[in-house]
Amino acid sequence: MLMNQAAAQLAPLTGLKQNELLRLLEVPPQAEMGDAAFPCFILAKSLKKAPAVIAADIAAQLQTVGLDASPAGPYVNIRFNREELAPKLLQELGLKTFGKLQLGAGARVVIDMSSPNIAKPFGIGHLRSTVIGAALYRLYNEAGYTSVSVNHLGDWGTQFGKQIAAYKRWGNDEALQAEPIRTSLELYVRFHDEAENDPSLEIEARDWFRKLEQGDEEAQRLWTFFVEVSMKEFNRMYERLNVRFDHTLGESFYNDKMGAIVEELKAKGLLEESEGALVVRLEEENMPPCLIIKTDGTTIYPTRDLATAVYRHDVMKADKMLYVVGGEQKLHFRQVFAVLSRMGYAWSEICEHIPFGLMRFEGRKMSTRRGKVVFLQEVLDEAVARALQIIQEKNPNLPNSQEVAEAVGVGAIVFGDLRNNRLNDVDFSLEDAVSFEGETGPYVQYTHARINSVLAKAAEAERVENENQLENVSSSNNAAANTQNKPVMVGDTSWALLKLLADYPQYLEKAIHRNEPSVIAKYAIDVAQAFNRFYHAERIADAPADVKPFRVALTERTAERLAYSLYLLGVQAPERM
Ligand code: ARG
Repeated sequence: MLMNQAAAQLAPLTGLKQNELLRLLEVPPQAEMGDAAFPCFILAKSLKKAPAVIAADIAAQLQTVGLDASPAGPYVNIRFNREELAPKLLQELGLKTFGKLQLGAGARVVIDMSSPNIAKPFGIGHLRSTVIGAALYRLYNEAGYTSVSVNHLGDWGTQFGKQIAAYKRWGNDEALQAEPIRTSLELYVRFHDEAENDPSLEIEARDWFRKLEQGDEEAQRLWTFFVEVSMKEFNRMYERLNVRFDHTLGESFYNDKMGAIVEELKAKGLLEESEGALVVRLEEENMPPCLIIKTDGTTIYPTRDLATAVYRHDVMKADKMLYVVGGEQKLHFRQVFAVLSRMGYAWSEICEHIPFGLMRFEGRKMSTRRGKVVFLQEVLDEAVARALQIIQEKNPNLPNSQEVAEAVGVGAIVFGDLRNNRLNDVDFSLEDAVSFEGETGPYVQYTHARINSVLAKAAEAERVENENQLENVSSSNNAAANTQNKPVMVGDTSWALLKLLADYPQYLEKAIHRNEPSVIAKYAIDVAQAFNRFYHAERIADAPADVKPFRVALTERTAERLAYSLYLLGVQAPERM
């Protein structure tokens, strides 16, 4: 917003286009230097002058039109007239349309997210997919796209043969109902343990899966049971994370759509036999072949993803497809997209894998096979318990502390994930994530709650003042409305905060452009820090009358922006903490 002003002033002097200038303009390294810096190297060649000379020229010309500009080596530093600009900016920030971008023109973005495997624990990878996907979902909606979320459940495949075989041997309905995931996991672990010495288990498992694919009644019934009990547990987690899906369509949904894909691959001459299996060779693409039908005639993960992509394109009318799935599946998606392209689907271009790094909890990794798993539910419970402890220390009289602790504990996990560049591997420390200090979710939430109490104090002071005024003179002027567009004294810390708030649309755009929710998480931390600097340096509720309306309004806009940024990330913003 502000940079536009600088660009408009510089355009006639430099002969550069506004857009180009916007790209070139920098923020000076120190706030004292000004608000914008224009690097003059870019003109040195065409003007055949040293950059420093050009900088001096431009600064002098800007000064003649009343701008505060000064040369600093090869840069022109420009200082905006904050007294005049601040009220205008503040007004703009208050508009309903502020921060809503129109990048997408309604295009439909289908986001594949969460997608856990039934009858297995909800792993950390699935947590990351869930929270990154949910954030992207909101970000795209913010920017003028239409987001559509799909939970592509892993509810099909040979592991269900294993699940059924294990259940038939050792299963117990009661335990499974009470604790579906833990019990399923125990069955799974036992299966792998015993299969080492008992090869008949693997054969049983394979038979069960084949029966399942052929529609055998008992196999279907058991499978449905596993899906239902698992979903009950997953849904509890989704509720806590406040995540909803537009569609929950597991891999099994594509069973009756796979035949057509296989036929099409055949008809297009792409299917080749290889050691009894059917594959699509991808030598030209420098990739190993993509397996389509296994030797036992059953379909496999990539086959189902081909059918899925076609469905999302043809039926869901996707204009863009995002797959929020861990980086370890990079090759899988490259293969699937390559096969789609081989099939002649130019739209394979709209498919994009959004990978993310590994996360460890307190150094614990997960390995389903050995049964050493970090259960998300336990992690959330522990985070909430820690949050409750901190809240009770800080604010023993908070009436709904349990509810707030849930928002803070769960928020700490979500924010603690999203603040990392998604491609980075993360070593997650619960203690750090739940701390009210540092770059954490609770820090942002706490700042937001503190702002609310500042605002309540300001409102109370206002009320008392109005009462006194009514007693004395009957001037009914509203001070806030009156000062909105008048120049106002603006301190350094309020100016820095205001500029950051005004920059929000740029951050949103960057987050979308990179599919990177961490941009917003870091932004929220910056805003919270900028507010806290302002709060410590300038008075707000008890500020002098001439600046108070401005500072109170700035504080209100800050609270809104923090709450909204947290909302985008899927984190709640309690009013009080
Ligand atoms: N269920 C899979 C897993 O846990 C992830 C599925 C991702 N989505 C997809 N369309 N392949 O590994």
